[in-house]
Amino acid sequence: MSAPLLSVSELTVRFPARGGRTVHAVESVSLTIAQGGTLGLVGESGSGKSTTARAIAGLQAPTAGEVRVDGEPFGPRSAPALRRRVQMVFQDPYSSLDPRRPVGWSVEEPLMLHGVGTAAVRRARALAALDACGLDPRLSLRYPHELSGGQRQRVAIARALVVEPELVVLDEPTSALDVSVRAQVIELLGDLRRRFSIAYLFVSHDLAVVRRVCEQVAVMYLGRIVEHGPREQLFKAPQHPYTRALLASVPTLGRELAPPPLSGDPASPLAPPPGCAFHPRCPHRHEVADERCSLEVPFLREHGTSRVACHLQATPLTPR
Ligand SMILES: Nc1ncnc2c1ncn2[C@@H]1O[C@H](COP(=O)(O)OP(=O)(O)OP(=O)(O)O)[C@@H](O)[C@H]1O
Ligand SMILES: [Mg+2]
Repeated sequence: MSAPLLSVSELTVRFPARGGRTVHAVESVSLTIAQGGTLGLVGESGSGKSTTARAIAGLQAPTAGEVRVDGEPFGPRSAPALRRRVQMVFQDPYSSLDPRRPVGWSVEEPLMLHGVGTAAVRRARALAALDACGLDPRLSLRYPHELSGGQRQRVAIARALVVEPELVVLDEPTSALDVSVRAQVIELLGDLRRRFSIAYLFVSHDLAVVRRVCEQVAVMYLGRIVEHGPREQLFKAPQHPYTRALLASVPTLGRELAPPPLSGDPASPLAPPPGCAFHPRCPHRHEVADERCSLEVPFLREHGTSRVACHLQATPLTPR
């Protein structure tokens, strides 16, 4: 079997903090994305989604573990030809567009950086990318501040696409947009993926959007993946207590789910609780023997078509 397009193993990212402390932003994250696949990454604020996304896009060096693209080690120091294959789109398009340049230039720039084609070829490719993103080529002469938020995000997507990446990492790509524009950009992302067979890592707070866009979904809690599985399985029959609580907190998604919404704040990544990081908030921790939840980190185990990191799932309630 050929290697998956993206393979992340035991990815760990820690940041130094004041007083000699450490932020445990990402801990032992392992996942894969197939060619043309779509993985959604969800979880509360501060759970490590953006840090994971940045490490996968080669913008953040891991503290430990590794990212591979098509089997090759991938990171900030990888060769440009490999880096080209993974592009990133941010929540705020201003972060990737130069305010002093017409947007057409910003779309051409990655081609210049990668030494692709002649000026005429680059220009033609930039215009084609803008067109694929539903923008009139005449807009290429405008400056970012002259465009609407939706148009700016389309330009940022064109800039990512122009180098023909195989994986695009999108970090909350629609969160800053008005609701009406959001739906159009989501539709555009779906079209582009089908048209160019691009794989997506899609980070979002919006579970309804993830459900529309992604075939696979991974749920993060305090730096770790707690559940990862096919969309239908995860939304219809979530297994980790945190996933259930997260879905139940969205009225339109969680109607049929019984557990109470999440109480208490997530713990700090400066001091993750021992054992399962979710245990202080978990309604089921007393159902597992020997205080295991507060002592032992649960690892992801296969559970049907999903992977789940929960001692409750590992210990059947009724002994067989
Ligand atoms: N460069 C950095 N230096 C120090 N701490 C950082 C840095 N980047 C992220 N962190 C910390 O790492 C943790 C995870 O942050 P991250 O941005 O990955 O979370 P997130 O899931 O994307 O959150 P949000 O949903 O709010 O975007 C947070 O506690 C954050 O404060
Ligand atoms: Mg984030």
